[in-house]
Amino acid sequence: MSSLVDGELPGTLFHPPPHLERTAHVPGMDTYRRMYAESVEHPEAFWANIAQEFFWKTPATGPLFNWNFDVRKGPIATNFMTGATTNISYNALDRHVACGLGDKTAFIWEGNNHGDEGKITYSQLLEEVSKFSNVLKAAGLEKGDRVAIYLPMILELPIAILACARIGVVHSVVFGGFSADSLAERMLDGKCSVLVTADGVWRGDKFIDLKKIADEAAAKCLAHGHKTTRKIVVKHMGPCPVTQQNGTTNGVLNGNGHDHAKGDGRGKVPRVDRYCSKKHHKELITQWDDQVDWWWHEEVAKVEATCPPVWMDSEDPLFLLYTSGSTGKPKGILHTVAGYMVYAALTFKCVFDYQDDDVYWCTADAGWITGHSYVVYGPLLNGATGIVFEGIPTYPQPDRFWEVVEKYRVTKFYTAPTAIRSLMKFGEEIVLKHDRSSLKILGSVGEPINPEAWLWYHKYVGEERCPIVDTFWQTETGGHVLTPLPAATPLKPGSATLPFFGVLPAVLDEDGHEISQPDCEGYLVFKQAWPGVMRSIYGDHKRYENLYFGKFPGYYTTGDGCKRDKDGYYWITGRIDDMVNVSGHLLSTAEIESALIEHPGVSEAAVVSHPHPIKGECTYGFVTMKVGHVFNKQTVSELKLKVREKIGAFAVPDFLQDAPGLPKTRSGKIMRRVLRKIACGDRALGDISTLADSDVVETLFKLRPSNA
Ligand code: PRX
Repeated sequence: MSSLVDGELPGTLFHPPPHLERTAHVPGMDTYRRMYAESVEHPEAFWANIAQEFFWKTPATGPLFNWNFDVRKGPIATNFMTGATTNISYNALDRHVACGLGDKTAFIWEGNNHGDEGKITYSQLLEEVSKFSNVLKAAGLEKGDRVAIYLPMILELPIAILACARIGVVHSVVFGGFSADSLAERMLDGKCSVLVTADGVWRGDKFIDLKKIADEAAAKCLAHGHKTTRKIVVKHMGPCPVTQQNGTTNGVLNGNGHDHAKGDGRGKVPRVDRYCSKKHHKELITQWDDQVDWWWHEEVAKVEATCPPVWMDSEDPLFLLYTSGSTGKPKGILHTVAGYMVYAALTFKCVFDYQDDDVYWCTADAGWITGHSYVVYGPLLNGATGIVFEGIPTYPQPDRFWEVVEKYRVTKFYTAPTAIRSLMKFGEEIVLKHDRSSLKILGSVGEPINPEAWLWYHKYVGEERCPIVDTFWQTETGGHVLTPLPAATPLKPGSATLPFFGVLPAVLDEDGHEISQPDCEGYLVFKQAWPGVMRSIYGDHKRYENLYFGKFPGYYTTGDGCKRDKDGYYWITGRIDDMVNVSGHLLSTAEIESALIEHPGVSEAAVVSHPHPIKGECTYGFVTMKVGHVFNKQTVSELKLKVREKIGAFAVPDFLQDAPGLPKTRSGKIMRRVLRKIACGDRALGDISTLADSDVVETLFKLRPSNA
């Protein structure tokens, strides 16, 4: 692989290609500056104007946009379109169908295995969503109730999300990689009485028994006093009985293969032959309890195909999405209907410069916020055609991404730096052998993109034609907050550049003073609300106020550090709390530590972040064993299993080392700064005069695993 960074200095500007400007929603920097000034100086008027593009059942009866970010002045609150009523599923589906877009493809589904594929139009999607809303109603759910969704990337995932939104049920999607413990913890916190899941999924060549995990989670909820959990299960792994009986479909989706038999003369072919190759076919191996388990396909066959939307107050809850908390307890981030809708839609439209003929592909799982805002809501609210991808970048071969880009002639492609880095190592040939001439804009999200990866992405994937939008945002922000706009912002590799409309960033020093000169470094905060900002932590508004608004009253604290350069560009430097960003996923070191401590032989554990060439960061754990217990290979396997069981495979530390003692201050605080240095084998420890016992450090250096 050739080196790209030679001769290309950081700070080099990459200007927007002039042809993009002609049709762009935000053409040129002057337009951006004008719109930006308007958005932060007159936010109420700016957002009220944007809101006009949406359908409101009844208009606002109070202020169009106001907020309080200062705990000293009262409770933290944001209000958008006060008193208006709307429905996000209506805006994402019915509104487009009514305008003649019914036959447009809403989603293309590309499965884990070659040949597993399908499409669904806006009209079909509306019908499937309506049916599933009726199923949820039949399960006894009403506006305000919570539903957990634990599904792979199949079309039932957006359908379930939108079906909840249609009837005002609050969805809480849990990423399919989380363990039964994590799923149960989230279901308990959200008091979810219904869980939507599937019988299983192949991720690459690994089978994940989702139903078994769902059963375990439901049992754990029961043990914690939760009443029965109704499970609605998608038959994803085997032939669907309804499809087999009548040889066609029950009107459903290609996403789970039900519709594969339609219109191609192979109507009688059981779906399994088309969907999972024999090798991948799995019969449901776990138990089935008729009292609580419903098959999705059986229930949707019983209900009406239409369902009127429930008109929601602008500030009614839309969804919860859990994100790691630095204390180890996940936080249920709460977003509300109208502000999230308008913000997800506008960021999608401007940041990807959405055009009607786009084939847009965001590779994120809808179990994370990126999937919520930019697989499901943002694209559908704009009437876009998007791809739902079930697979992984390296299966069956490491050219899968570029194969899919070529196959569907993808125009806008959005992925994570970790995916780019993992593919770079296979060389550019696997990219170059696929036609990428359809691509117009590339995106990056989840973590800082290192300039080497940026330049590779730009040169080999985007053929030096496609701007890269490096979008900085968080589960909490609902949508992009710092981001280039492709036909306006000159790009600097590694910088998320400038704020989106309505977003007013500031950089604070340790004392909470705003740094006024452009060229500076400090805490990244936001001074005013934008419609998509989170409204609360579910069930714990005080925690929300303390965590995000307590450290620096008057500001929303992101938890990230940043640099601002002389041109006012922002460069994220990483988390300033005990969170680690592994492959674009935030993990809490405290949460991993508490999983390790559950091992009966462990007395203490400390987990720190550690640089990783592909994942960006990984975790490194120091483990102190109890007297009489040894730390050996088997202990390491058992510890890894603990983390897998408590959180999920993606949280398993890359390194674990024996730590007969941990470096602590005299007051007993673990010096994580010193542990990070030890993990790297770096002896430049700085000031360690506050250490209670400095001999510990030398012992830890000696016990460092040789591969770290
Ligand atoms: O540290 C920042 C990093 O990811 C965190 C948010 O994680 P999460 O809520 O899981 O959402 C991830 C997807 C939006 C941030 O606090 N982060 C996200 N995007 C970027 C980033 N860091 C640098 N550059 C980015 N583009």
